[in-house]
Amino acid sequence: MEKDMIGSEELQEFTVKYYEDRLIKGIENFHPGGIDYTEKLAMEAGVREGTRILDVASGSGETALYLAMRFKAEVVGFDLSEKMVAHATERAKDLGLRHLATFKKGDVHKMPFAKGSFDAAISECSLCLFRDKVQVIQNIAHGVKSGKKVAVSDVITKGEIPKELHTPLLYACCLAGAQPLKETMDIFIKAGLKNVVGYELTADIKDPWKEELPVLYHEVMNAFKDAIRLGVYEPKDESELDRMAERLLSEKFGYAIVSGIVL
Ligand SMILES: C[S@@+](CC[C@H](N)C(=O)[O-])C[C@H]1O[C@@H](n2cnc3c(N)ncnc32)[C@H](O)[C@@H]1O
Repeated sequence: MEKDMIGSEELQEFTVKYYEDRLIKGIENFHPGGIDYTEKLAMEAGVREGTRILDVASGSGETALYLAMRFKAEVVGFDLSEKMVAHATERAKDLGLRHLATFKKGDVHKMPFAKGSFDAAISECSLCLFRDKVQVIQNIAHGVKSGKKVAVSDVITKGEIPKELHTPLLYACCLAGAQPLKETMDIFIKAGLKNVVGYELTADIKDPWKEELPVLYHEVMNAFKDAIRLGVYEPKDESELDRMAERLLSEKFGYAIVSGIVL
C-alpha cells in the first residue's frame, strides 16, 4: 500500500465496506477482548449509572447497547456507516433500549456535537483507522464536559511491522495503521488533554488474537500467502505460516487503553 493511500477517501470507504461485509456475515464484535475490555474501558472513562456517553465509531452498536444495559447510561453511538447505524438502531429497538441508546451517522473528522454535551467519550479499536488522529481526539474532546474523560482502546504495535503487511485489508482490520502506545498517548497530549495515561491490556494474556479475534489471524495468514504468491517470501507450508502469524500477532501487536481529561 502506498504511503499516500493512508488517509485517502478510498481507503476510508474500503474500511467501512470491510466492516459492513463482516456485519452481513453475522459478525458484530469488531474489537479484541470482547465485553471484558469494554468493561475496562468504561471504568477508565468513569461511566456509571446515568452517564451521558459518546461512543465514537460505534459499529454494530454492541458496546453502546451493553453500556445502556449495564449502567443505564445514555449512549449516543456515532459511525460513518449508514448500515451500522441502521443495524444498531434496530437492535436498540429489539432490546427496548431506544430511550437510552441512539445512533447517528457521521464522520469523526467533522463531528456535529455541541461543546460539553457528554459526561464521557469512548472509542474502541478505531483510532488506528482515522486519518487525522489529533484532530479527531480534539473533535471528540470538544463534545465532552470540562474535567471529564476521553478514553480509547486500540491496537498498538510493539516493534517494526513487515512492509508486506501494509495492505489495505490489514489497514481496515486495524493492524497496518496501529501505532506504539507512546505515540497514541502523544496524540492525546497534542490534542490538549491532561493527565494522559496509557496501559496495555494484552500484557498478561496468552495469544488472545487467534482465539478471540480469529479474523485478524486469518487476514495475516492471507497477507503472508499473497506475499508468497508475489515472490516476496519463499514458499512455506501451512504450519510454518501458522507459527509466523501467531508469533507476529502476539509479539508485535497489543491492545491498550489511553485516556485523558478534557480541560
Ligand atoms: C474496528 S470497527 C470498531 C467498531 C466498534 N467500536 C467495536 O469495537 O465493535 C471500526 C468502525 O469505525 C467506523 N469508521 C471508520 N472510519 C470512520 C470515520 N471516519 N468516522 C466514523 N466512523 C468510522 C467503521 O464504520 C466501523 O464501524
